[in-house]
Amino acid sequence: MEKKEKIYEGKAKIIYATDQPDKVIAYFKDSATAFDAVKKATIKGKGILNNTISSFFFQLLGEKGIPTHFIKKLSDREMLIYKVQIIPVEVVVRNMAAGSIVRRLGIPEKTKFEPPLIEFYLKNDELHDPIICEQHIYAMDLAKPEEVHKMKEIALKVNEIIKEFMEKQGVILVDFKLEFGRKDCQIVLADEISPDTCRFWDAKTGESLDKDRFRFDLGDLIEGYRKILEKIEKKGE
Ligand code: TMP
Ligand code: ASP
Repeated sequence: MEKKEKIYEGKAKIIYATDQPDKVIAYFKDSATAFDAVKKATIKGKGILNNTISSFFFQLLGEKGIPTHFIKKLSDREMLIYKVQIIPVEVVVRNMAAGSIVRRLGIPEKTKFEPPLIEFYLKNDELHDPIICEQHIYAMDLAKPEEVHKMKEIALKVNEIIKEFMEKQGVILVDFKLEFGRKDCQIVLADEISPDTCRFWDAKTGESLDKDRFRFDLGDLIEGYRKILEKIEKKGE
């Protein structure tokens, strides 16, 4: 597997071509951003933790039959993935109220959502990733109804798998964001699943073990992400 030219650089990752047209390499950077990159920092070691945690979750989900872009972890900061066409919609699943839904709708923090809530956001930095509804997805032709149906189905399965897995490690999966892509006309889970994209709370202490540490200055980010990694690695033994 030969690493070739850079094809895309985002806020947290760089995508490189390989000598195989259907495969690319995702490189996890140490940069942290929040609030549309208004708040920025370089946090040494974050990329290594996110690559390791994401690889673990993609592996787990793959074993449970979820189609993902993940092929294998290549190094500390790199994973080999299938090249997909990313659908510009962020899918957020919420088990409990936290973050923007508390601010936007005044729902008290920790209100439980049973069944879990699914929300869609337009992936567009200039417009600040606005919340959209399913009809907007069709009006803008971002995805077909069958694709949205599949995305929702996968999102709920991912929620069940990761929620149950983390519960056993004493961690509450509060909410998370997923991105999907098309590979050979099929919907597959893409991007990353890490403490950058999930809210994880310690079930005993309520401590945030995710990017809220950086967003709201709640404590050292690396310490929180390391706790998540330690818990999932312990389980893997
Ligand atoms: P929110 O409460 O800020 O809407 O975030 C919901 C979930 O989505 C939370 O787990 C963090 C994640 N998220 C991202 O991964 N990227 C983003 O750009 C935003 C705003 C949230
Ligand atoms: N990732 C987004 C940004 O960089 C926002 C967030 O995660 O809070 O701005």
